[in-house]
Amino acid sequence: MIIGVPKEIKNNENRVALTPAGVAEMKKHNHTVYVQATAGMGSGFSDEDYVAAGAVILPTIEEVYGIAEMIIKVKEPIASEYNLIKEGQLLFTYFHFASSEELTHAMIERKAICLAYETVEKKDRSLPLLIPMSEVAGRMAPQEGAKYLEKPLKGRGILLGGVPGVKPAEVLVLGGGIVGTQAAKIAAGFGARVTIMDINLNRLRELDDIMPANVVTQMSNHYNIKEAIKTADLIIGAVLIPGAKAPHLITRDMLKDMKPGTVLVDVAVDQGGCIETCKPTTHENPTFIIDDVVHYCVANMPGAVPFTSTLALTNATLPYAIMLANKGWQAACAQNDELRLGLNVVNGEVVYKGVADAWNLPLTNLSNVMEAYA
Ligand SMILES: NC(=O)c1ccc[n+]([C@@H]2O[C@H](COP(=O)([O-])OP(=O)(O)OC[C@H]3O[C@@H](n4cnc5c(N)ncnc54)[C@H](O)[C@@H]3O)[C@@H](O)[C@H]2O)c1
Repeated sequence: MIIGVPKEIKNNENRVALTPAGVAEMKKHNHTVYVQATAGMGSGFSDEDYVAAGAVILPTIEEVYGIAEMIIKVKEPIASEYNLIKEGQLLFTYFHFASSEELTHAMIERKAICLAYETVEKKDRSLPLLIPMSEVAGRMAPQEGAKYLEKPLKGRGILLGGVPGVKPAEVLVLGGGIVGTQAAKIAAGFGARVTIMDINLNRLRELDDIMPANVVTQMSNHYNIKEAIKTADLIIGAVLIPGAKAPHLITRDMLKDMKPGTVLVDVAVDQGGCIETCKPTTHENPTFIIDDVVHYCVANMPGAVPFTSTLALTNATLPYAIMLANKGWQAACAQNDELRLGLNVVNGEVVYKGVADAWNLPLTNLSNVMEAYA
């Protein structure tokens, strides 16, 4: 198959969808890979690295879209890319269609085959292409929190780990899923005293078994949260209710119960946030202050560490990309349930319920579409 890797052009996006190691794997399977010049630069890969791995470098994005049967990307195509997409071209990337009506209509019009990373789903309902980014954001959260707890950055001026003779900081993690677990682990590694709250008792049992001694678990409820925020120095929001807006576990009126200079890192901000006062911020301007409480609410945290994020993402996407390249999307999706669930828009038809519901569009039965291509 002919594979194209365009340079990401969304603002501040430095990741790339295929590394030189990925190119080498594709070559092993006899595929041809075209990479746009400087596509890997933001993640530490030069054009020479890609050529050495067997890719052909193309100077422009038009040439990459023009030649490729499958485009592998990181972020959804932006408006300037819409017209480059060809009928029947396979696009394997994050789309998040339910958050953009314009993108949904554009992809329907282009009659592309849109396979979305975020809806590829395993039997146990886990989302293998979202997990790596949750791991990155979770591990970043205490690091960002530690930074903004410093006095010059308007925090309380407390060191997460304390020092001999001085107590460490208190970290409260709301949600003990992927983000919360990684956040707790790193905060504990810094030496902080960590409390993880979740509503899933089985999850709390698991965490209690695997976490170090400076991490305790507690049932998440309004009473416990209200008590815990009084002593917390850093609060990390990591709650998710699949397919729904995050619940506001900390409301505006609760800020007055916190110590001045407390830092809130609401990782769940991309789902509306679990702290009422959190609104999405950017890496250029990551924080704001309300009632002496520092809010960090960057919606694309992994974007700040592209060297790590690119490798984490491509470790997870490459096996699926190879499957698609080896078999073509029709056979790959017919044989693999996980990949099939990634299909969102096929040849102008919406085949994913969440997308159809979001924009009130007719939902086409995926089996009919697959049969048409069989
Ligand atoms: N800002 C970013 O850059 C970024 C990056 C990656 C992920 N995220 C977001 O982080 C959030 C968490 O993702 P995840 O992968 O850890 O999800 P997850 O499903 O693995 O974990 C969510 C956890 O929240 C728990 N939960 C639900 N309701 C709760 C409540 N009332 N109190 C306490 N816990 C509750 C669930 O039981 C679950 O354990 C998501 O919104 C995700 O989109 C943001």
